Order: sequence, then structure tokens, then C-alpha cells
Amino acid sequence: MSGQRRLHPETLAVHLGLESDAATSAIAPPIHLSTTFERAADGSYPHGFVYSRSENPTRAALERALTLLQGAHEAAAFASGSAAAAAVFRALPAGAHVVVPQDMYHGIRVVLRELLVPAGLRVSEVDLRDLDALEAALTSATRLIWVETPSNPMLHVTDVAGVVAAARRAADLLVAIDATWTPPTWADPVGLGADLVVHATTKYLAGHSDVLGGAVLAARPSDTFERVRAIQRLEGAVPSPFECWLTLRGLRTLPYRLRAQAANAATVAAFLVGHDAVTAVHYPGLPEHPGHAVAERQMREPGGMLSFELAGGEAAAMRVAGAVRLWRRGTSLGGVESLIEHRASIEPEGTATPRGLLRLSLGIEHHEDLIADLAQALAHEGGTA
Ligand SMILES: Cc1ncc(COP(=O)(O)O)c(C=O)c1O
Repeated sequence: MSGQRRLHPETLAVHLGLESDAATSAIAPPIHLSTTFERAADGSYPHGFVYSRSENPTRAALERALTLLQGAHEAAAFASGSAAAAAVFRALPAGAHVVVPQDMYHGIRVVLRELLVPAGLRVSEVDLRDLDALEAALTSATRLIWVETPSNPMLHVTDVAGVVAAARRAADLLVAIDATWTPPTWADPVGLGADLVVHATTKYLAGHSDVLGGAVLAARPSDTFERVRAIQRLEGAVPSPFECWLTLRGLRTLPYRLRAQAANAATVAAFLVGHDAVTAVHYPGLPEHPGHAVAERQMREPGGMLSFELAGGEAAAMRVAGAVRLWRRGTSLGGVESLIEHRASIEPEGTATPRGLLRLSLGIEHHEDLIADLAQALAHEGGTA
């Protein structure tokens, strides 16, 4: 498809997965619902497909598309981002030790603490902004460093190249990046040296808040990825053909959605920084953000997510979230509609997330409408809208 020259992401995104329908010449790809595939008279499988838990043509098209877009070697699609993440941890050898960030998507932390640690995984939660702390946490049993950058919900930025360099000093130590918040083209974890890239395709990649999915991508072949593939095929926690198809459709517009979302994040962050009711804005695009320099180095755009804290604490945060008219109050992220969320109240008891913090996922609406709505919601908090 690409000939000699590598295509631009906008072009790749439109054409990915369209090459597959030799049977009908349909422009939009078909959805293959069949769970089983007919054997030839000689017992062979003429197209290589046997049974949809193991492999399905629509899922294969999505996996090909994700692989190309990410510049990876191979992809395995899962039924959710959490299932994809869990497959990576479960693919590690018995007794393995892993390092994960202190600030990370709480759902994966719960999977680790409640399911995987009781099953024998050893986990250290480390502030990965501090590479010395990472080095100190590594042991001879460490098999994986899990990075989420910028992190959910505090937007901590981790130096991926620094983590990769630390990992390369030890044998059998892989770096996995949860790139849900940095889909292609915002960052290039494979180019930065990551071994595995994980996405909740639920978010930016599908992009319309109507599909649950995940993927593990391998930068290069490894035993760990082979085990991830085995978990996928043997257990079948896979997206349905329709969900694969919806995700493929979402990919077509990814680069243009991301452009709008990144521009909206920058504009809304600048508005919030200037507001009297706001005490902190966590967004790596701001020069004063502690991770700004690293983010500039490793991200093409500072992303479409930000969080901010209110002088009036939890009560003020709940009032502001309650007063918006255009923003939708809800969890999740990466869809075309802008979302606002009081984060601490959805995370488990004892979370370190500040009670006065609101998290924003920028959609593709016009920034003036988003800011006007935030301004009216913040007006009662004594600020200068
Ligand atoms: C960074 C990150 N990783 C993974 C997930 C999990 O994705 P899913 O909800 O599809 O399991 C989320 C969900 O919010 C997330 O924010």
C-alpha cells in the first residue's frame, strides 16, 4: 500500500485495513461475524482462519491497522484496555517483579492489587518522574517497567528514553508504555525504545465513546508478546467483529480529531491558568509544568487531557462540574465530546488524587463554546472569568 515512501499518518489512517476485501471490492471493510471457517476437502484452512476466538478477519484487519499506525511489529486486540494491560502482566514468568507508576489509571492499579498480587506478582509503585527512584526499585527479579505518561489523573510526565536506558542495563527487563493518552501521532513510544505499547482503544483510537477495546503492540518479537498472544487466543477476551469494525472506522479520522483535541486542550489550559478560582493546572503544554521539557522532547503534542484544582476544594469542584451545560459529566476520555469529571470520587477510597481536582477530556467542539461554558460554571467560585 505504501510503495517506497512511508505515508503520512493522515493518509495511513484513511487507508488502513481497506486492503482486505478482495472478495467483493467493497470500499468499506466487511464485518466478519462467522465464528467458524470452512475447511477444504483436504482438511486445510484455505484462508488461514479456523475459529474466531483464535483469529477473525475483522480483528486481523484492526490489528494490522494498529501495527502500521504505531510503527510496531505486531498487535493483539483485547476486549478492553484493562484486559490488554492484565494480559501483559500475566504473560510474565511466575514470581516476576514489576515497577509501575505511583500515579496511574486507578483501574489497572486495582487489577494489580486485587487480582495479580494475590496470584504472585510482585509490584513496586514508584514515582517514575524520579529515575534514581526507579533504579533503586529494580531487582534481579524485575521483568517489566510499566509507564503511563502523562499519567492519569495528575499528568505526571515520565522520561521514556531514561526509563528505557535504565531497563537496558538489566537482562530480561521490558518496558511497556500505556499509550492510551498518547495515541499515534502524539508520541512514538516504539521510536523511544519501548518494547510493548498498550492502548485502551476505547479512548482516542475508536474516538466516539461507543466501543470498549484494548490492544497490546510489540515493537519486536519477544517471549512475553508470544504469551500475550496465547492469552488472547486461548482465553478469548477479544473485541467482537463489530467493535473491531467501529474501531477501524474511528481510526480514519484520528489525526484530525487529535489536532482539534490538542488545540482545545492548549486553549482551555491557558484560560484556566488565568482564572482566580483555579489554584493549579496540570497540563504538560504549560511552560511552568514540571514535565514540560521532557514532554516537549518526547511528545509531538502535549495531548488532549488536563486536570485542574479549585481553591474551594471538593465542594467547589462538585459545584463547577454540576454547573456546566455543554461539557458532559462523565468518566472516560478521548471521544469527540468534551468530558468533565470529579476524579477522586470515582477512584477507590484512600486515593491520592486531590479532592478539589477536576479532570477534562477535550473533544472537538469549538474552543470558544467550551470556554464560555467553563467560564459560566466557574463564575460563582469568585473568579475572574
Ligand atoms: C491510561 C488508561 N489506561 C487504560 C485504561 C483502561 O481502559 P478500559 O476502560 O478500556 O479497560 C484507561 C481507562 O480510563 C486509561 O485511562
